Amino acid sequence: MTTQDELKQQAAQQAADMVEPGMALGVGTGSTVAFFIDALGDRNRQTPLNLKAIVTTSNRSKQQLEQNGFVVNELADVDQLDLTIDGADRVDDDLNGIKGGGAAHTLEKNVAVNSKKNLWIVDESKLCHRLGDFPLPVEVLPVSAKQNFAKFEQAGLQPAYRLNEQGERLTTHYGNWIIDLHVDPLPVPDGLAAYLDATVGVVEHGLFLHLVDTVLIAHADGTIERR
Ligand code: 5RP
Repeated sequence: MTTQDELKQQAAQQAADMVEPGMALGVGTGSTVAFFIDALGDRNRQTPLNLKAIVTTSNRSKQQLEQNGFVVNELADVDQLDLTIDGADRVDDDLNGIKGGGAAHTLEKNVAVNSKKNLWIVDESKLCHRLGDFPLPVEVLPVSAKQNFAKFEQAGLQPAYRLNEQGERLTTHYGNWIIDLHVDPLPVPDGLAAYLDATVGVVEHGLFLHLVDTVLIAHADGTIERR
């Protein structure tokens, strides 16, 4: 039987083969991306890809890229990325998705919008017809988190602070907190995204709408579907 990790690895391997020499590359975060980084490292050791730049979205990915011999740049060092490869927590029928299961969605979205093309790699468990069964992460400033939380509660969005292993509020890379929203299904993702974008105190949310060009989906039958 193919395990979920094997599926992630298969999608990651195919994505590594799609990177072209000399590209400015964005690299996301998560367990699927971890397989991608190792596959990219293998490929680069066989035939150097001479990537123009690599920008990544977490310290974990940065460390792993460096272990694989890549020099990592900051987003501020590049004008535009050619391609960004990332995982996702959910992908719907229109290739819209939810990200932020690893609390890295703020930088992930900034990298994605500054990339000419975006490719997601997922196993089939991430597919859904409509978004909502995975909680929607919202990164908020601690200074006004109390008011944001109350506002989300009043709007029926069933907010919950994300906690770390010690049971304290999880702090993001930027020193903020995550509030997860529970609405299943999300009736109008574009409407909710606009509401969150307009809410003062919200740093970034995990709705990635109309952003991704291609999704590689690893299925349990061993096929990789390209959408
Ligand atoms: C992190 C993310 C990840 O891409 C998402 O959680 C998928 O992770 P994994 O590949 O481990 O399932 O959005 O913020």
